[in-house]
Order: sequence, then structure tokens, then C-alpha cells
Amino acid sequence: MKFLQFSVLPFLIVILSVSGANLARHPHRDFLRCLSLRIANSSTITYTQNNPSYSSVLNASIHNTRFSTPTTPKPYAIITPRKTSHVQSTIYCSKNHGFQLRIRSGGHDVEGVSYVSQVPFVILDLVNFRDVKVDTKNEVAWVQSGATTGELYYGIASKTQTLGFPAGICHTIGIGGHLSGGGFGILGRKYGLAADHIIDAKLVDANGRVLRRKSMGEDLFWAIRGGGGNTFGVVLAWKIKLVPVPPVVTVFTVNKNLEQNATKTFHRWQYIAHKLPRDLFTTVWVMKVNSSQVGRKTVQASFKGMFLGRIDVLIPLIQYAFPELGLARENCTEMSWVQSVLYFGALPIEPVEILLNRSALPRLSLKAKTDYIRQPMSETGIEGFMNMFLEEGTDFAITMIEAFGGKMDEIRENELPFPHRSGILFESVYIVQWTNEEDAGLCINWMRRLYSYMSSYASKSLRGAYYNYKDLDLGTNNINGYTSYEQASVWGLKYFRNNFKRLVRIKTMIDPMNFFSNEQSIPPLLSP
Ligand code: FDA
Repeated sequence: MKFLQFSVLPFLIVILSVSGANLARHPHRDFLRCLSLRIANSSTITYTQNNPSYSSVLNASIHNTRFSTPTTPKPYAIITPRKTSHVQSTIYCSKNHGFQLRIRSGGHDVEGVSYVSQVPFVILDLVNFRDVKVDTKNEVAWVQSGATTGELYYGIASKTQTLGFPAGICHTIGIGGHLSGGGFGILGRKYGLAADHIIDAKLVDANGRVLRRKSMGEDLFWAIRGGGGNTFGVVLAWKIKLVPVPPVVTVFTVNKNLEQNATKTFHRWQYIAHKLPRDLFTTVWVMKVNSSQVGRKTVQASFKGMFLGRIDVLIPLIQYAFPELGLARENCTEMSWVQSVLYFGALPIEPVEILLNRSALPRLSLKAKTDYIRQPMSETGIEGFMNMFLEEGTDFAITMIEAFGGKMDEIRENELPFPHRSGILFESVYIVQWTNEEDAGLCINWMRRLYSYMSSYASKSLRGAYYNYKDLDLGTNNINGYTSYEQASVWGLKYFRNNFKRLVRIKTMIDPMNFFSNEQSIPPLLSP
């Protein structure tokens, strides 16, 4: 394969040396001057380090404190656009004055990619792009990227109790990153991913063109629904199709620890969860807890579920399909779909206005990894996995094991960039958190050991990973200079499997000079 990198290299050298010359002059001052020439009162939406609000604007949506230490590289400026033209101007000025652009919507990127870079950079923070317009008659909504899932859910629920949207369970995640990376949540078995329900989008590309579905074409529209928006442009807003939900749903939790047959119950769950009726989503959360013996710890598997129906239907269903769980009426609660989102977020279910609180959750440092499991683990394998939670560094560790099947089984692998569909029993999201930076090494090492332990159970031929929980351990683009197709394939194939090739082709078409680049963006490589 002959790559575009060779053909564009001479031009790049010229461009880099031109921007290098700019850098040698006054890149910062020139960037600000550029903005001020293009945007009236640009200073009201621009925060440089001299601005007293710089730190609060920067930290407002940093959700992984691992990337807000004194040594973390900071942006030269944060731009908080109010209009599309502000976004166009920021792209133009960043490109012309040698700054990399990092796009931030909700700031939940687990590797801090939306607000940290190793090269001079500015942040385009979409905090002012937060409109949610719900049209219940046509069962659609337009939602801007800077809104959170909570703001979207609240916007829907304040108009109707019988429509919902199948996206993630944490209400503070941003629409921009979440939808462009896929988006799996408690309605996933019934309806698939958030990205499966996008019907239009508004994007600004590297040339400042404002594109809608029709003008961007089906290739690019395909790519931004799971291939990561930040590779292709700034997605300002999304038109989504809402889905029916009943006015009352039932949630439940059954906790079992190592002394209460957690291992056996989890072992059995693997054979059942993906085959249950698609109205029933179940998940197992594994974590360390206090044992009933004073001063001792044990590991708990918390079996949680959401059923699109009432308790009286759910209980016999579970008693028939999964009697080992021992589900009882007192484990179950009926509520509205929107309250169930709060329930899964471990928050009080009332008042639902908490969905509008973007800082309702504690902020910790964290590292995450993901797996897709196609074959049930043995009981011994599960026991080993659970016992690892008794090791040091696991005080705030959790694995969320989410059942697939249902609608996820029916969508073709290449329908959208997110390929992990048919035949997957469950997705495992491993998260380790810490409050004291001195524990970072211990916790991250534990996470890497856990991941290595799971390698024999994860998809055998090609171990998959979920782009929405980026993992830079899988590999990164070169900071300076081009990254080869082969190099990027190492992580690209894990996230996107065979869709990676198509993403590369689309990237090459839409952004051949790789303006939108970051540690794991798709590199523009293509044979002529
Ligand atoms: P952020 O603003 O940090 O952006 C994430 C990435 O998308 C960055 O690379 C950024 O540049 C890019 N981006 C953001 N806005 C863009 C835009 N407008 N245009 C182009 N590119 C843009 N996932 C899931 O599927 N189900 C779940 O239940 C959860 N739950 C969850 C809980 C918690 C606490 C965390 C930290 C994460 C999750 N996630 C998740 C993962 C989540 O979906 C993922 O981190 C999203 O990328 C977050 O989107 P934000 O906009 O908040 O992040």
C-alpha cells in the first residue's frame, strides 16, 4: 500500500516550516489577533492564562483529575464559541497559527484527549452549545454537542413519559463525545447504540465548511456515528430519533459477595443474560466491599437490571429464566425511564432536576479499559478475576459487565464504525480510580494486570476495545510527523475491526492534511 504520507510530505514540510516561522514570531499574539479580526468581541469567549477565569473554565469539565495536575500541559487558550462562525474562526486561526485544536463537549474523555496535548494547543469548549429541542410529534430531537445526556434525558422527559433515548447511564457525559463514539446504555439491548439513532448532524470541517448529512455525504455521516468526531471535524449538533418507552419501568439490584455464591451466579448469568427478552437489560458490577467479618474485605457482584415493564411481569420472568439470582419483590422498584437513569447512576431518583447538574458526580483520577467477551468464562476464571479485587490499589475499582444480545445482535458489524455486535455476550468496562496521586502507579499497574489476566477470555482472534473508553496503552499516533497505517492499525483494528480501513479512507478525503489530530485520531493514509 502506497500511502498519502509520501505524496504530501513535501507540502507538509513547507507548511510546518511556515507555521514554525509563525511560532518563532508571536504565535500566541498572532492567534489572538486572528480571532479578534474575525470575531466581534472575541475576548468575551477567549480565556488565556492571563484571564482570572482561565482555571475555572478549564477545570469546569475535567472529569479525570489524573489530567489536571500542575505538570499536565495546559492549553494556550480556551475558546467557548456562541455561534457557528466562532467555531469556523477558531479552526481557521488555529490552523494558521500552528495550534492543535482539542474539541471538548462534556470533558469525560478517559484519557483527557479533549483537553490535554503534548504540542501547543487550544481548546474549543462547546459548553455554550447546549440546546435540546424535542419534537414529540415526530419523535425526534435536535441536541447540541455541549449538552449532557442528562440535559437531553431531562428535555425528553419534561415533554413526554413515553419516549426515551438509548444512550449512556452517566448523566454528565457530553453528547459530542458520547454520540460520536457510539453510546451504550440501559436501552442498548432493546434499541442498540445512541449512534444507531442519529439521523442528521451539523459539522464544521477543517476548511470551515458547515455540513449537514446531505452535504457531507453518507461516508462522512457514517464515520462520525461511532468513529470519533474529533478525527473528522467539530460536530455542533445531532438530530436523533427518539424511541418508545413505557411510562413505568422496573429496576432491581441483587448483591452477592464471594461468600454468597457470587462466582456461581455470575457464571450462570453469562449463559442467560444475552438471551433474555430484549426488554430486560442486566449488568453485573464487581467491586471490593466490606465483609460481614469485621475488618475484612470481600468482593461483591451486584446484579442490576432494568425492565421495560412492571414488577409483576418481571419477577416470574426472572424466576423462570434465572432462578439462581433469587430475585425478590423487595429488590425491585417501579419508576419512570428517566428516573431509572439516575438509579443506574447511583443517584437519588428525585428530583429529576439533578439531571441538569453537570457537576453532580465526584471527580477522581481514573484509568479504564474494555473487553468484548464471546465465550463464557469458566468458574475458576471468574474466581481468579474476582479475587484480583482483593489486591492493593482496588479501593475504588469497578468492572461493569453489560449484557449484549437483543438488538445488538441484529446490527451488521459494518453498519456503523462501532463493530462489536453479533455474538458478543457482554462488554466489560474495567475502571480503577484513586484520590491520591501517589497511588496512580499502583492502581494503573493493577488495571494492566487485570487486563492481562482477562486476555485469555477476551475475543480470541482480535481483542476488541470500545473507542468511547479510550486506552492509550493500546498505542498512539506519533506526536510529530506522520503515523503509518500499520502503526495506527494496532489500536484502530481493536476499536473498529474491519471498519478501520473505511475510516482511514474517509479521513483522507475530508481532512488529508490531518488538522484534526490527537493521540488516537484516524490518520489520513491512502494509496493514490
Ligand atoms: P469529551 O468532551 O472529553 O470528548 C470525548 C472525545 O470526543 C474527545 O476526543 C473529544 O475531542 C471528542 N469530541 C467531543 N465533542 C466533540 C464534538 N462536538 N465534535 C467532535 N469531536 C468531539 N460510554 C457509554 O457508552 N456508556 C456509558 O454509560 C458511559 N458512562 C460513562 C461514565 C463516566 C463517568 C465516564 C467518564 C465515561 C462514560 N462513558 C460511557 C464514556 C463516554 O461515552 C466517553 O468518554 C465520551 O467520549 C464522553 O464524551 P464527552 O463529550 O463527555 O467527552
